[in-house]
Amino acid sequence: MEIGDLSLIIQIVIFFTLILGLPLTREAPKNSKNLLRHGYLTTFALTLHTALVVVVMIILALDGYADILSLPALSLVVDLGHIILGFSAVVLGWIVVAYWFSNPLKTLGCYKTKKLMLPVIVIWALSLIMGAIIHLLDFF
Ligand code: HEM
Repeated sequence: MEIGDLSLIIQIVIFFTLILGLPLTREAPKNSKNLLRHGYLTTFALTLHTALVVVVMIILALDGYADILSLPALSLVVDLGHIILGFSAVVLGWIVVAYWFSNPLKTLGCYKTKKLMLPVIVIWALSLIMGAIIHLLDFF
């Protein structure tokens, strides 16, 4: 198994960890334990995802980025889309977590960024789908 296959599988597992934290927000009263559990699960998924991005997308793939510009137009769009969306999901995800951690955890400072969370998960999913297309069709 190549590193790219492994990375895709790990990313899918991480995304499911993220999804696992979602039902906990439904009908949860403010300050409930379930909202804290949602925070821990999503932060755990984001930490793993960030570590994987740093190792696989930045350290291991660094040599390949110069070649991106010579790709055919469709591959270029999917590649750049994956990079831009992936980067945005990580940055926005950490903004949410930063709001949580910069206040006592029980006060759920992350509530202020509630409107960001749905976009983060959608952007994260789109970047994952684009990454899978790149990997499966061997665009890169
Ligand atoms: C990558 C990080 C995260 C993602 C992708 C995420 C995703 C989501 C999603 C999709 C919702 C439902 C939003 C809606 O119905 O409009 C939600 C709700 C919520 N999340 Fe997160 N979340 C993340 C991190 C956090 C963190 C760190 C906390 C802090 C504890 C947190 C606290 C909440 C709260 C308080 C709600 C609202 C519950 C309500 O409707 O009253 N989330 N999250």
